[in-house]
Amino acid sequence: MTTQDSPKPSVLIVGAGCWGLATAYTLASSGYTKVTVLEKDDVVPSRFSAGNDLNKVIRAEYADNFYTDLSVRAIRKWQTDPLYKPHFHQNGFLNVTSESAPQATKDVVTNYLTSIRGHPAFEGQVSTVHGAEEIKKVAPAFTGPTAGWSGYFNKLAGYAHSADASKAVYDACVKLGVNFVLGRDNGEVTELVYDTISSRRVCVGVKTRGNQIYHADKVILALGADVPGLIPQLGPQVTGRCWGVVHIQLTPEEARPLRGIPVTNVRDLAFFFEPDEATNKLKFCHMGGGFTNFALSQNGLSLPYEKLEDSQFIPLDDESYIRKLLQEVFPQFADRPLIDKHLCWFADTIDSDYIIDYVPDTNSSLIVLSGDSGHGFKMLPIFGEFVKEILERGSQNIAKWQWKDDTKQKSTGTWRGDTATQELSKIPRA
Ligand SMILES: Cc1cc2nc3c(=O)[nH]c(=O)nc-3n(C[C@H](O)[C@H](O)[C@H](O)COP(=O)(O)OP(=O)(O)OC[C@H]3O[C@@H](n4cnc5c(N)ncnc54)[C@H](O)[C@@H]3O)c2cc1C
Ligand SMILES: *[C@@H]1O[C@H](CO)[C@@H](O)[C@H](O)[C@H]1NC(C)=O
Ligand SMILES: *[C@@H]1O[C@H](CO)[C@@H](O)[C@H](O)[C@H]1NC(C)=O
Repeated sequence: MTTQDSPKPSVLIVGAGCWGLATAYTLASSGYTKVTVLEKDDVVPSRFSAGNDLNKVIRAEYADNFYTDLSVRAIRKWQTDPLYKPHFHQNGFLNVTSESAPQATKDVVTNYLTSIRGHPAFEGQVSTVHGAEEIKKVAPAFTGPTAGWSGYFNKLAGYAHSADASKAVYDACVKLGVNFVLGRDNGEVTELVYDTISSRRVCVGVKTRGNQIYHADKVILALGADVPGLIPQLGPQVTGRCWGVVHIQLTPEEARPLRGIPVTNVRDLAFFFEPDEATNKLKFCHMGGGFTNFALSQNGLSLPYEKLEDSQFIPLDDESYIRKLLQEVFPQFADRPLIDKHLCWFADTIDSDYIIDYVPDTNSSLIVLSGDSGHGFKMLPIFGEFVKEILERGSQNIAKWQWKDDTKQKSTGTWRGDTATQELSKIPRA
């Protein structure tokens, strides 16, 4: 165990996405002088990172107070810390169903509101919104009918410009002396290197595609949806899954009246954000159960496509949800071409809990950060603390973040709507 005064171990972080960057920054800010980050892309933010995006929702309402408390802490940092503040926009979060949503989908909101209203952080922040008239009070710029929209508006929420925030953390890491190695040859890890020390199996480093070997006292994997590729024993706990993301291009004149609109999630259709300041692009995502890609794998794992080009489409159904939403909210843009189509990959767990733990049988030498389940970006300002904690304690004490016994996971419950039609190779594409 490392104490305050003993020398800090050397640390190798694989993956410079949201969680790898957050970890590198916290460690480098806490006296760790030997931190190296390996990343397969040759730029940061990586084009493979789920966080390399115009925006991500920052909100704290969860059915589980554990995540609410953490998200509230993260939001305080988004609001005040000079590193994150420039990238945070507290426009509020409008979470509704449209008129045509199934009754069951509409019903969920009552229970949900009761549960979040019990938390002190939301006092005076959350209000119900029913019907077009009330919607237009919250978002006067919505010119479409929005008839029968119903749900709630939360003022303690908004979005972060996630690519810019990632870049800011990367720059701060470089300033603190973190060593980044980027690119396919020297930055893409293809193998973990093990040794037997005093008859114990220990991960002593990694090997890259170009056969470079890096050694460190502690190896931390932050590979997003790619992680089961490197440690297949994680396969039963984590599934690589994706959602389709698109933009529409607005002119500066078209974007101006939409400045300041809340992040809006029409649960049965899609969610969208205020136009991006730099590009005037509006982002849309239909967030269903997520799509898998088991087709390419030999060992029963769902993994992202290796080439970026192969992820440049969205499911055809997603396009029709987005068109319907445009009719409802911005009919003037209903026929605008959908551009920048791509799949955004995340690491999904059955209970949506993160996995932040030592890999078994590695003598506490190898840590995995995984299972973001599509809600990990908001934690950027505090995520590194979670990792520092277990690095210094030598174990994970938070049960829900522990490495789970794989056989148990496999036999219980069903994953987020697992059906054959969610497999990418079997669906029509747009
Ligand atoms: C469509 C979509 C919407 C989302 N919306 C939200 C939201 O609104 N709010 C929110 O909080 N979160 C959201 N998320 C989730 C958020 O983006 C993720 O939780 C977060 O990015 C996870 O960080 P990560 O570091 O684990 O993975 P990533 O950010 O994906 O980073 C993984 C990194 O590992 C690198 N890598 C992979 N394999 C290798 C290798 N072999 N060698 C070296 N490097 C490698 C990749 O290039 C990448 O840079 C969303 C995700 C998606 C897909
Ligand atoms: C939106 O509200 C529904 C309940 O109406 C809830 O189940 C869902 O988690 C909320 N979405 C977000 C992103 O908070
Ligand atoms: C392996 O773990 C044991 C017991 O925790 C510890 O004493 C030893 O130093 C570790 N070995 C290595 C190489 O980390």
